[in-house]
Amino acid sequence: MRSNTKINKDGTETIGNLWQPGPDGLLLEVDDLQVEFRIREGVAKAINGVSFDLYEGQTLAVLGESGSGKSVTAQAIMGILDSPPGYITGGQVRYCGTDVLKLPEAQRRKVRGPEISMVFQDALSALNPVFPVGWQIAEMFRKHRGMNKSDAMKRAVELMERVQIPGANQRVKAYPHQFSGGMRQRIMIAMAIALDPAVLIADEPTTALDVTVQAQIMRLLADLQDERRMGLILITHDLGVVADVADRIAVMYAGKIVEQADVFDLYAAPAHPYTKGLLESIPRLDQKGQQLAAIGGLPPNLTAIPPGCPFHPRCRYAQDVCRAGSPPELRDVGLQRRAACHFAEDVLAEGVSR
Ligand SMILES: Nc1ncnc2c1ncn2[C@@H]1O[C@H](COP(=O)(O)OP(=O)(O)OP(=O)(O)O)[C@@H](O)[C@H]1O
Ligand code: SF4
Ligand SMILES: [Mg+2]
Repeated sequence: MRSNTKINKDGTETIGNLWQPGPDGLLLEVDDLQVEFRIREGVAKAINGVSFDLYEGQTLAVLGESGSGKSVTAQAIMGILDSPPGYITGGQVRYCGTDVLKLPEAQRRKVRGPEISMVFQDALSALNPVFPVGWQIAEMFRKHRGMNKSDAMKRAVELMERVQIPGANQRVKAYPHQFSGGMRQRIMIAMAIALDPAVLIADEPTTALDVTVQAQIMRLLADLQDERRMGLILITHDLGVVADVADRIAVMYAGKIVEQADVFDLYAAPAHPYTKGLLESIPRLDQKGQQLAAIGGLPPNLTAIPPGCPFHPRCRYAQDVCRAGSPPELRDVGLQRRAACHFAEDVLAEGVSR
């Protein structure tokens, strides 16, 4: 159960303004988000009209190749975009109905962490090397909840236990470099959930870890989400990682969502040729020695995205209509499913060959 109760120095409690999700549990609405980077080479159009909703207890996986705009989307939602050179040039990010992009920085800080929190890919660089991990977790309670030192430290140990760090009571005084990669990522998760956020964004949380540890961290995230009814945005370029934990998937290409669907529907039959290519590139456990069918070609240069469908230079379905004019809109192509392709119905009808 989340609350933003503040424990005062005299032991009394102050209840802050609770952000209330919509009646249907709607937490976050990203609406036509646009981000560009003004760099020496020109204007890189990194995010080109991204829209999605996130509900309580839902896991949305955001998938796409390197450079497709996954992290920039997360940074824009969190309000930590590298600016300059990055600028949000359009759209809204509504949290519990309020457009956080319009909030003054002081109010934004009250959303970032206590309401919407993030786990980064690289735990070692996200943790401060000169302070013990317990102290770093405890600081969150001291700063945001006004707790005294010993209560904050007690909460830090509890949290370290919750993320299954063995011997938490002793290890609370250890420094980040004294933990393995997997344990450091658990500490990052502990810090991210310390203030009971309603939304957790995990940006490639397991990429740097070996496969067994990846699975354990994914399980931990899924358990925590279940326990706390968080909305989880799970960013990854690995379709295999998300199959067990995600409810919905948004596939990104060149700063756009090109397909959105429930996870089983998407695996059963993709509606966008890019998704289909990604699925065909997953190795099958039951077919040893099978070649990976990587998608040929490269993602576009974001300072010169080609006209028409941005995927057309790599698409085996491309026709003349794909090579000119406006890019295809993300449109309904079935129940709970959207795709940005002129021929989505044909692709969908084909299924996937794996
Ligand atoms: N600080 C920056 N300065 C300039 N351009 C940037 C910056 N950060 C991101 N970009 C641009 O935005 C694009 C999207 O970057 P982003 O980090 O969101 O990709 P990603 O999908 O997270 O990729 P990866 O899987 O490699 O993490 C990049 O290709 C790059 O052109
Ligand atoms: S619109 Fe055309 S080029 Fe783009 S994905 Fe669909 S078939 Fe391929
Ligand atoms: Mg990234």
